Amino acid sequence: MEGPESVGEMTETLRQGGYLADRGLATALFVALSLNRPILLEGEVGVGKTEVAKVMAAVFGRKLIRLQCYEGIDTNQALYEWDYARQMLHIRALSEHQVADSDAVDKLFGPRFLLERPLLEAVRTGDQAVLLIDEIDRADDEFEAFLLEVLSDFQISIPEIGTVKAASPPLVVLTSNRTRELHDALKRRCLYHWIDYPAAEREVEIVLVREPGISAALVRKVVAAVQRLRELDLAKPPGVAETIDWARTLDFLGESDLANAQDTLGAVVKDRDDLEVVLDNLQEITSGARGT
Ligand SMILES: Nc1ncnc2c1ncn2[C@@H]1O[C@H](COP(=O)(O)OP(=O)(O)OP(=O)(O)O)[C@@H](O)[C@H]1O
Ligand SMILES: [Mg+2]
Repeated sequence: MEGPESVGEMTETLRQGGYLADRGLATALFVALSLNRPILLEGEVGVGKTEVAKVMAAVFGRKLIRLQCYEGIDTNQALYEWDYARQMLHIRALSEHQVADSDAVDKLFGPRFLLERPLLEAVRTGDQAVLLIDEIDRADDEFEAFLLEVLSDFQISIPEIGTVKAASPPLVVLTSNRTRELHDALKRRCLYHWIDYPAAEREVEIVLVREPGISAALVRKVVAAVQRLRELDLAKPPGVAETIDWARTLDFLGESDLANAQDTLGAVVKDRDDLEVVLDNLQEITSGARGT
């Protein structure tokens, strides 16, 4: 599908894909897509950072290529690896047939034995891909520096094969939960958008888009309670994902309000100490009075 021609069109297209973006996010995505700029999304846990990349791929008919970052991730896992097992088998087959010319050895480091990892795949797929670099804050400094290099020219050189370059770059979406500060150099290269918790009305809309079968009255009650939970000083405040889960759970159990909230708190509160705080304030959280 062609890219959108306005921020409004971007918002509408995302909505059709089941994602409700506010104007700021829709604008950032519109610019990122139109001007080929990577976009860095930061925000609390569960506010829809990863989801938006998935939906972008779906609505624009692009392939989603995901690079999940973690502590200790290295360039092999991100770019490409040689398929050692198959290389070994090939070598054995060669020696059985007594062939050991230099050509046969060269082939060992040819395309047949190359395992494509997300970054190489994204460079090859070019503008038919959305490259999601998820949770970049979990990777270490060196990996970030290496990423910066890839993002700056979308070119990867493989000594044994040559250079692979994207004709037009993929849309790159990076996400971070801010467990650490990212480097300025990386930030400078990207458009930036902070995704906040949605306002209550918007959150109700999001839950209903995701779970159209649930009664709006129940959803409003759940959202009101979740918003109050976020005002408490919890170690793990609930994200939108938890709101959806809680609504789904209550709906499944046939509840129409939060009278039995205590039994279903496991859908929203996922930390033992938090649970105590919440239980101490349950009345205010589920009643309508402001929690303290
Ligand atoms: N604006 C939105 N429109 C539609 N769905 C949303 C929106 N925001 C969040 N969601 C829902 O919330 C769920 C959680 O979102 P997602 O996994 O993208 O969060 P995240 O920000 O990546 O969280 P984490 O930091 O834990 O990775 C999604 O599966 C989606 O259903
Ligand atoms: Mg995520």
